Amino acid sequence: MNRTVEIARKKNIVLIEDLQMVYRMGKVEVPALRGVDITVKEGEFVAIMGPSGCGKSTLLHLMGGLLRPSCGRIHIAGVDIGSAPDSVRTEFRRRRMGFVFQGYNLLPTLTAGDNIELARRIYGDGKRGETGVQQVLTLLGLQNKMDHKPCELSGGEQQRVAVARAVINNPSLLLADEPTGSLDSDNSQRVLDVLQELNLQYGQTIIMITHDSEVASTASRIIEMRDGRVLNRVQNLYYAMEEKRL
Ligand SMILES: Nc1ncnc2c1ncn2[C@@H]1O[C@H](COP(=O)(O)OP(=O)(O)OP(=O)(O)O)[C@@H](O)[C@H]1O
Ligand SMILES: [Mg+2]
Repeated sequence: MNRTVEIARKKNIVLIEDLQMVYRMGKVEVPALRGVDITVKEGEFVAIMGPSGCGKSTLLHLMGGLLRPSCGRIHIAGVDIGSAPDSVRTEFRRRRMGFVFQGYNLLPTLTAGDNIELARRIYGDGKRGETGVQQVLTLLGLQNKMDHKPCELSGGEQQRVAVARAVINNPSLLLADEPTGSLDSDNSQRVLDVLQELNLQYGQTIIMITHDSEVASTASRIIEMRDGRVLNRVQNLYYAMEEKRL
């Protein structure tokens, strides 16, 4: 079956309607999202692009349950993450979401292996098992780096450890904010290869922010943002219509 048709038949994992976010700084209100509608299917690899300040990270943080929206609906994997109680949101974030940020955020005193193991012990439910963990490490090319501390790894390797840590508990959704932003082109490519492999081989749903159109072309769909809105809304509506037609 054609991959687009195959994906269109899958369930929505992200359902966002009229999402608005206003930051408040004392008396000043900063509108960051001005009514965003997005759907993402299970198994999609979506890139979000747009100029600095257009609201990309805000949108990602809302999807990850790190922020609460000012208005609108945001459902992730059937959970109303926008309005669920804090305890539900925290549990959901730990068990169902994987985050990769531009700065790798690894614990500097722990080895790569322990950074990954810690995430597995604290947040995991052992779903992947030992073989699953080895598969992830092999996929990421990290088998021989497990005893290295972050300072003994290249930027690309550190970012791959961060990806391993994010996917080790088999998250429903992997959210990546400029995962290649601080890497040279070789290291960027390796991280992108890994993301693509996770998507194609394991059906991992991925939403990735990037400034770079070449990086974005790794994804199967690009969402363009400007000034708190989705630019190619028509394309996304067309996509939703196609889905209804099938
Ligand atoms: N904690 C905050 N308090 C107040 N305003 C904020 C806060 N975080 C973001 N903003 C504002 O919200 C808008 C959107 O910011 P956001 O970080 O989502 O942009 P972005 O598209 O991710 O930009 P970049 O590409 O530079 O990372 C900007 O105007 C920003 O100044
Ligand atoms: Mg940002």
